[in-house]
Amino acid sequence: MAGAKAPEERGGYAEDVSAGRPEEHGLRFEVDGEIATITLNRPDKRNAQTFATWSALAQIGDDLPERVRIVVVKGEGPSFSAGIDLRMFTPEGVPGQGSFSSAARLGAAAFEQRLRQAQRGFLWLRRPEIVSVAAVQGHAIGAGFQLALACDLRIVADDVKFCMKEPALGLVPDLTGTKPLVELVGLARAIDICLTARTVEAGEALRIGLAEQVVARDDLDQAVRDKAAQLLSTNRDAATATKRLLQGARSRTLEEQCAAEGAEQAERLRALFAAQP
Ligand code: ACO
Repeated sequence: MAGAKAPEERGGYAEDVSAGRPEEHGLRFEVDGEIATITLNRPDKRNAQTFATWSALAQIGDDLPERVRIVVVKGEGPSFSAGIDLRMFTPEGVPGQGSFSSAARLGAAAFEQRLRQAQRGFLWLRRPEIVSVAAVQGHAIGAGFQLALACDLRIVADDVKFCMKEPALGLVPDLTGTKPLVELVGLARAIDICLTARTVEAGEALRIGLAEQVVARDDLDQAVRDKAAQLLSTNRDAATATKRLLQGARSRTLEEQCAAEGAEQAERLRALFAAQP
């Protein structure tokens, strides 16, 4: 078509993939009261992810109704997600979304912009106003593992298989997963898991802190519903303030953290007793 640009001319890697409706990009998005559920919904391709998936995730984050307190991220079918769509490794790439070979030709600024756009799909899951829960069964490979790591909590089925495959493919994990991995399991274990690209199964995941809970595959949905009910039992604003405190704890000194606790509590007390004379 005259005027149509090759992916490289548009920036390659991924052109600006407009989010559109989540269903158009292999996602299902449902809101039931205070609980939102995002389902990766390409089970026939083991929920492989593309730039369009990440744009759609970012859009869901942008549009999330204010009443939502819990965001569940799950995958349809046998696997949570087999990671990035392997067509990215082919010269043709994913139609309309470029390939790694087009990414290799991008300038630094254009590459950074594309990557930030992809990472936006993952970052919002850490917002203090929500608790994100990954319900993980079967394989969670590469981008799939990182999506689970982007969530606050991971409830996993007993057949779970986490694998950070990127280094085996000549890449680094770049979808926001390295920081939570190190924070959850420690530097040495993170090096072991990533640089061997080995599989971490349910028992180990629970033992090293990658998973909060392991349940039988058939019980996964119910376990997530139960956790959501527990999370919803606390005061909404106090939950937000407490998550904010906990998230900041690692980067503050004890003294700074004590001060932060005081500031949050003063705000809570003002809000709780504002109506009283
Ligand atoms: N991208 C695109 N298609 C995929 C992917 C993927 N990442 N993973 C699986 N599929 C497709 C297969 O090609 C197959 O399609 P077809 O039915 O049209 O032939 C279908 O999904 C089912 O895959 P199987 O391999 O038959 O499913 P199985 O359950 O036996 O195995 C497994 C699942 C282990 C996940 C396997 O598919 C696999 O190893 N996939 C690739 C994993 C990978 O290397 N991901 C990249 C990680 S790096 C990153 O994410 C940055």
